[in-house]
Amino acid sequence: MRRVAAVLGLALAAAGCTGRQSALDPAGAEAGAQFDMMTLLLGVCGIMYLLVLGFLAMAIWRAFSRRREAKGPDTAPLVPGPERGLQLTLTGWTGLILAGLLGLTVATFLVDRGLTEPARGEPLHVRMTGNQWWWRVEYPDGGPSQQFETANELHLPVNRTTVLELNAADVIHSFWAPNLAGKTDLIPGRVNRLRLTPTRSGVFRAQCAEFCGLEHARMALDIVVETPAQFAAWQARQRTPSPSVVPVSAARGRDFFTTRACANCHHVGGAEANGRTAPDLTHVASRRTIAAGTLPTTRGSFAAWIADPQGIKPGANMPAVPMTPSELNDVVDYLETLR
Ligand code: CUA
Repeated sequence: MRRVAAVLGLALAAAGCTGRQSALDPAGAEAGAQFDMMTLLLGVCGIMYLLVLGFLAMAIWRAFSRRREAKGPDTAPLVPGPERGLQLTLTGWTGLILAGLLGLTVATFLVDRGLTEPARGEPLHVRMTGNQWWWRVEYPDGGPSQQFETANELHLPVNRTTVLELNAADVIHSFWAPNLAGKTDLIPGRVNRLRLTPTRSGVFRAQCAEFCGLEHARMALDIVVETPAQFAAWQARQRTPSPSVVPVSAARGRDFFTTRACANCHHVGGAEANGRTAPDLTHVASRRTIAAGTLPTTRGSFAAWIADPQGIKPGANMPAVPMTPSELNDVVDYLETLR
């Protein structure tokens, strides 16, 4: 019974280490190197810790047994006299500790150097800008017709290095995708570079890791790692403008969107909406979440978010634009065509 409980406990503990936002479940070369380094440090330090505790226990046990043997008042000296071989043992242990520390220092240096090395091959470039409280994601490679922008969702090809150029529009944010790499800050007026080489397809979650104001906790980012073919298809889709022909209600929604406050802040490719201060919505319905990981992309989420953004994300810069229920319905119909 006890054995079953132990196995169950271990399984539960191991299950807590995996997942789409876990540094203990690396899915990239950089996170893998850091995980290996951590395992090495933990292993060496763990063994040393157990040895120290073992020797301490041994010393305590010997002191007690000596006192018991002495019978009567304890006359043994507190510090024992010189023992044969003691000096040799001490020298040996000091040497071992020094060699271990030196080994760990060299290993840390090499891993650290490896992480900051320039990317090999032809890397993909992605420019990412932190905003209160969302992520602007731009793909600047290729000519002007090849460039595009999205928000709150980063797509990466598997087994190819991507260089993220991190910058911030307002305050300091921090990019942290634990499955792929360590944290890197996004600082206004400065570009920090971070290399990512995903080695496994899947959907991972990144989170802003630097307190940046009221909605810091609701500043998440989905990272979709795909095969090169899937990534190329996604890129091609992102480069297309929004559809010009849409159902009647969606066309009414588009008229509302482009003639009212929405278009002042949001950009929609192919429509008369050229705002730059809020997320690009050209393909918003194709993303997994809206409002930077706050709600899953559904019709209900769109309606709730537009009707009461401050109720869902208090402090966000999105205002509630006055509209009737039927206008809201039309605008949601329109957003759903932005796939
Ligand atoms: Cu952005 Cu915290």
